[in-house]
Amino acid sequence: MADTLTVTDNRTGKTYEVPITDGAIRALDLRQVRTGPDDFGLLAYDPAFMNTASTRSAITFIDGDRGVLWYRGYPIEQLAERSTYLEVAYLLIHGELPTEKALADWTWQVTHHTWVHENVKKFMDGFHHDAHPMSMLISAVAALSTFYPDARVNRDAGHRALQVHRLIAKMPTLTAFAYRHTLGRPCVYPDNDLSYAGNFLNMVFRTADAKYAPPPALERALDVLFILHADHEQNCSTNAMRSVASSGVDPYSAVAAAAAALYGPLHGGANEAVLKMLRSIGSPARIPDFIRQVKTGEARLMGFGHRVYKNYDPRARIIKGVADAVFAATQPSPLLPVALELERIALQDDYFVTRKLYPNVDFYSGLIYDAMGFPVEMFPALFAIPRTAGWLAQWLEMLGDPEQKIARPRQVYTGPDRRDFVPMERRA
Ligand code: CMC
Repeated sequence: MADTLTVTDNRTGKTYEVPITDGAIRALDLRQVRTGPDDFGLLAYDPAFMNTASTRSAITFIDGDRGVLWYRGYPIEQLAERSTYLEVAYLLIHGELPTEKALADWTWQVTHHTWVHENVKKFMDGFHHDAHPMSMLISAVAALSTFYPDARVNRDAGHRALQVHRLIAKMPTLTAFAYRHTLGRPCVYPDNDLSYAGNFLNMVFRTADAKYAPPPALERALDVLFILHADHEQNCSTNAMRSVASSGVDPYSAVAAAAAALYGPLHGGANEAVLKMLRSIGSPARIPDFIRQVKTGEARLMGFGHRVYKNYDPRARIIKGVADAVFAATQPSPLLPVALELERIALQDDYFVTRKLYPNVDFYSGLIYDAMGFPVEMFPALFAIPRTAGWLAQWLEMLGDPEQKIARPRQVYTGPDRRDFVPMERRA
């Protein structure tokens, strides 16, 4: 049996044989399907990349029907239970789990790049008091490229590694500075004695104490949430990262673009939208009416559904366990009963069952962040911090892939045919 696809063009009666590799045909192989010498050749039309693989990748594997997620072959459940965010970030970037020494070096590097230039504080100060932290983060990370102009031109592997350390290290600092700005509080500088998650909590929440001790349950919970959000193969923001970086731009600008893609309510903004939705529902008694609105298209059940998962998102399962640990250490969220009941009803309802709509990673993460004391405006940034490792792993993979070029889709033109310019006085 040949690994090929035979296609007959009924316009011409010609037959073509196209190779199948790893379950895919090359869209460029369709170009030979032409009606004549003036025909450009057949295009694959795929708005929103519903069935197009844009790359070969060895980083993250998802089986949406079985609810499976692996980073570099390791199941997400094992990583969430036994690893740390920084170890997982190393795994994503380097492809293997670190040795003890490699992890110590990596941790040292990330820890010692957490500080930002003092001028960053000055432009943070320029933002309006009610600026959204994610908008500030996007702007600030783009602005980092002005501090490291050599990142634009230097393509050396060691130099790239330096940008990776800087970006993973500085995203929490920029986020925390943005948050403190919204409160009108002074920035808290990084504390190198703390873990990645612990230091972030320090920069966000420290008040008068000289030394901040992160609550262990919250520190671990945040670290697990960071692990769960670290990568998710070719999603909207990762595609933005690859697409923008394919032009050869520096990684700070590309991460800003990826973060901008993440900000949208259908992607990383969904956890913010979930919390707002739960607040607007308010009590379990109002759920049936809300479900009715979803079914008539007046509302959307945020935190449900996924382009790839047509089963329970494995991250959502782990997050439920994290929620229990956090609520044991804080106040139980008054919105938890609403979320649990909403999930229970939706999982039995034909509308959601037939469309295979299950809770995704964002359904419970917002409740946890809320219980930890983060305002909803911080949620997208809490996603961007850990996803930076994934974006950078994908960036490095793209740079090393000889098949990749500047990303440039084709279009099917549907506009007017050629016509002559109409002077103003003759326009209708
Ligand atoms: N509530 C109600 N109906 C929904 C929902 C939802 N959350 N999600 C999908 N549907 C319906 C949709 O209306 C469509 O119905 P019909 O066939 O009758 O037209 C059907 O289910 C298929 O949905 P789709 O919009 O074609 O699916 P998609 O793959 O384009 O969208 C999605 C995926 C995540 C954008 C969508 O499910 C959604 O908007 N969910 C809510 C937002 C959300 O939670 N986003 C976070 C995603 S996970 C974190 C991340 O990776 O960013």
